[in-house]
Amino acid sequence: MVRPVRRCGSDEETQRAGEEFVHLVRAGDVVILNGPLGAGKTTFVKGLARGLGVRERVVSPTFTMVRDYATDGRGGITHLHHADVYRASGPGDILDLDLHEWREESALVVVEWGERAADLFGEVNLTVNFTPDDSTEARDLEVVGPESLARSGEIAHWEGR
Ligand SMILES: Nc1ncnc2c1ncn2[C@@H]1O[C@H](COP(=O)(O)OP(=O)(O)O)[C@@H](O)[C@H]1O
Ligand SMILES: [Mg+2]
Repeated sequence: MVRPVRRCGSDEETQRAGEEFVHLVRAGDVVILNGPLGAGKTTFVKGLARGLGVRERVVSPTFTMVRDYATDGRGGITHLHHADVYRASGPGDILDLDLHEWREESALVVVEWGERAADLFGEVNLTVNFTPDDSTEARDLEVVGPESLARSGEIAHWEGR
């Protein structure tokens, strides 16, 4: 099976990929974003927040590690919990964030550098791997994870935009 990858040639395209990602997620999901610093993870979440109808400006949770945004309730998702565990110095730090407690029926949890926190969640529904292209500004976004098969139709549609 060919793994779905969406190439984002610019900051705006990565935001749009995030905005359209709303069609792939469900309330109660945990989504992990993996990729090096500057890969576009926060940029993607800005677009995702727009897609969810968040009015507040999304800023990187690098220092606070967690931020919570109210959406307009579309798709049954009322909150976006955005975390970035890059600065967590170890598993204890991550445990202190009580990330698993944010998994709620009506919320979407998105975690940057989430592979470090994946064990905390019973199940991570989707993972987006960000791979920057060395010679251009482009980023390749690949969606994997347990739900990727069940949502392959939505993912293929998203990938093909
Ligand atoms: N194709 C692209 N996708 C996303 N960001 C890009 C792209 N090209 C350039 N950029 C820039 O790269 C940076 C990505 O930063 P950010 O989203 O904070 O990354 P991360 O959260 O992964 O560390 C931003 O300054 C953005 O403008
Ligand atoms: Mg970031």
